[in-house]
Amino acid sequence: MSLPRPPSFRSPERRGLAALVRRSALVRRFVPGETLEAALAAAALQAALGIGTTLTYLGDTPQDPADTARVAQPYLEALDTIRERGLTCELSVKLSLLGLDAGPDRCEGVLEAICARAARGPTHVWIDMEAPAAVDAALGLFRRVQARHRHLGLCLQAYLKRTTADVDSLIPLGAGVRIVKGSYRQPRAAAYRGRRAIADHFFRLGARLLAGDARGAGVRAVFATHDLGLLGRLQDHAWSLGLGRDAFECHMLLGVHSGYQRRLAAQGYPVRALVSYGEAWLAWYLRRLAERPANLGVLLRGLLG
Ligand code: FDA
Repeated sequence: MSLPRPPSFRSPERRGLAALVRRSALVRRFVPGETLEAALAAAALQAALGIGTTLTYLGDTPQDPADTARVAQPYLEALDTIRERGLTCELSVKLSLLGLDAGPDRCEGVLEAICARAARGPTHVWIDMEAPAAVDAALGLFRRVQARHRHLGLCLQAYLKRTTADVDSLIPLGAGVRIVKGSYRQPRAAAYRGRRAIADHFFRLGARLLAGDARGAGVRAVFATHDLGLLGRLQDHAWSLGLGRDAFECHMLLGVHSGYQRRLAAQGYPVRALVSYGEAWLAWYLRRLAERPANLGVLLRGLLG
């Protein structure tokens, strides 16, 4: 009796199955799970490799931003757990999830509560930067709360031309600044276009944050990108200034360029992986894709890579 022929790899059944397996493997690689425990388990694996973790909670946009205790609860729980277990994780928060849409005052109350709890660790807290329309509000909130909590840092986006001036304004505060390329739709006139122009601006911002006055003010410069060519330029620049390895701090998504992250950490450079968790992670990722079609390219590279 002859055995039935297995379906060809070109058959729709196999292609569908492969896509499903790949997708779930990809999801496991980037988002270890929805719960804090899953995120902390991933953080423990990173810690064993000498790589730090930044946790970012992706929940639903608050239905009632006035309920500040409820809005703050997942972050306070994460901070308490990090402290109780003596972990070196940091936290990154999205102001939209802290109720920014309901007005900066309420959002400031939530951010203040989070920073006050973080001070017990102390745990460093980062503010993610979202759509360009929210940049002024984010900077205003950051300046007010950072004046009371030095362990608060801010993300700034290299695709926005204004970021040069924003970086200059933050240097005297000795702030932590995490530079990213930027992943939201941006108005044409306000933004650099094209990979080269954005990477060049990123490099100039990084060089500014590594300059003597910034280092003297206590600035913590973080380069959050997977662009290895750009990171190489920044690393060379830090070396040419005679700075120690602590000056070249690199943050990436969990699971992207893992070998590079490990090598950098083994050489004594500070490296952190961003670990997302929370029940709304899929909705959040899909929103980002809808907002900026270029994000689809990044997702596809991840799927095919
Ligand atoms: P680019 O997109 O040019 O990618 C360079 C190379 O890296 C690609 O060719 C590809 O090989 C690889 N790569 C990039 N992303 C990948 C992925 N997801 N999977 C697989 N390979 C990938 N944005 C924002 O607007 N506000 C914020 O607060 C933050 N915060 C933030 C924190 C951290 C730690 C990171 C790493 C990123 C952010 N971002 C962000 C996102 C950021 O703005 C940007 O959209 C992405 O990092 C992708 O841009 P790259 O700098 O990696 O370069």
